[in-house]
Amino acid sequence: MNRREAHKTLLGSALALVGSKGLGQSVPSAVRIAETSRLSEVWADVPFMFAGQPAILVRVPVSKEANPRVFRVSEQVYLTAYSRICTHLGCTVPLPDREQKIECGCHGSRFRADGLLVGGPADRPLRAIRLELRDGAVWAVGWLDN
Ligand code: FES
Repeated sequence: MNRREAHKTLLGSALALVGSKGLGQSVPSAVRIAETSRLSEVWADVPFMFAGQPAILVRVPVSKEANPRVFRVSEQVYLTAYSRICTHLGCTVPLPDREQKIECGCHGSRFRADGLLVGGPADRPLRAIRLELRDGAVWAVGWLDN
């Protein structure tokens, strides 16, 4: 490939990236969170950082209903992950308590341990993260809602 062809290829790749993701939306780097063995029981969790934000991986109960926020590892192991940035005004929410509830300390929005909204003022769930399994470990690979 000569210099001119290389330039065309690079330009084409850049335009394809802009076209598929839109301007100003960067794709976060994938993050290795943990081995699945660290989530030995339902509601076990692993805090981690993703795209510069505090986040959490949670093992949730087995469910027969399809839920795009839930990643099925096996027949018994279902996981979800989400940002801990409150969808109201951006405070960091605490880790789930013993009753699997999360209450934002700023204005009282309430969420379940799977990140779903229970009560406002927030009007949407905590932002879900796309998960993948790679060599026995769970990776965060992107946002689910964009
Ligand atoms: S920032 Fe969480 S309730 Fe307002």
